Amino acid sequence: MISYLSWLVISFLCLVSFSAAQEDHGVSTDVNTLKFNYFGSDNSPVEITYGNLDSLNASKFLHSRPTTLIIDGFLSTYPSNMSLAMTKSLENCHRFETENAIVLDWGSMSGGRSPLLGGNLTQAMATLYPLAVANISPVGQRVAQFLDFLRVNGHINWNMVHIVGHSLGSHIGK
Ligand SMILES: *[C@@H]1O[C@H](CO)[C@@H](O)[C@H](O)[C@H]1NC(C)=O
Ligand SMILES: *[C@@H]1O[C@H](CO)[C@@H](O)[C@H](O)[C@H]1NC(C)=O
Ligand SMILES: *[C@@H]1O[C@H](CO)[C@@H](O)[C@H](O)[C@H]1NC(C)=O
Repeated sequence: MISYLSWLVISFLCLVSFSAAQEDHGVSTDVNTLKFNYFGSDNSPVEITYGNLDSLNASKFLHSRPTTLIIDGFLSTYPSNMSLAMTKSLENCHRFETENAIVLDWGSMSGGRSPLLGGNLTQAMATLYPLAVANISPVGQRVAQFLDFLRVNGHINWNMVHIVGHSLGSHIGK
């Protein structure tokens, strides 16, 4: 009986770890792996952790200013060329003197950090795309929670926020 039970437990554990290894491919489903990088009065980012007031205070967030949130696309890794180009142009136009920018790093959930990318790219993209798409809704919910965290702490108003998404990043939503 005991050996039958332990066989059952072991087969169950094998099944669970097998399917997890088969399915995740280095694409997290955990929104706590997302990072919000804040660009304030210059072009050097600091991370604000959702729900963490110490990190919000330490970021020296310039409140009551227009704030742009930038979201990269499928397979994005931070800092991507797109987000670098955007923050660079904001800096060149002296926008950081009057505005805030935040770049979402969702590389952990966009597929951008998958080991599959080291192999056949066509195959990797076909495998990773549905995983990244499945993450769109939870990422969107966390983005909303994050912005609301800034709002309830008096840092932004809804009418002063722009969200700029590239490619799959423009589909981030609930
Ligand atoms: C954050 O800053 C505000 C205003 O300066 C202060 O009242 C509050 O205690 C600070 N909170 C933390 C967690 O440091
Ligand atoms: C990013 O920009 C660098 C320098 O311009 C370029 O060498 C690289 O190929 C670009 N990467 C992507 C993914 O486009
Ligand atoms: C990569 O995968 C695609 C789709 O499975 C396949 O058609 C192609 O031949 C593969 N390329 C290489 C170099 O193996």
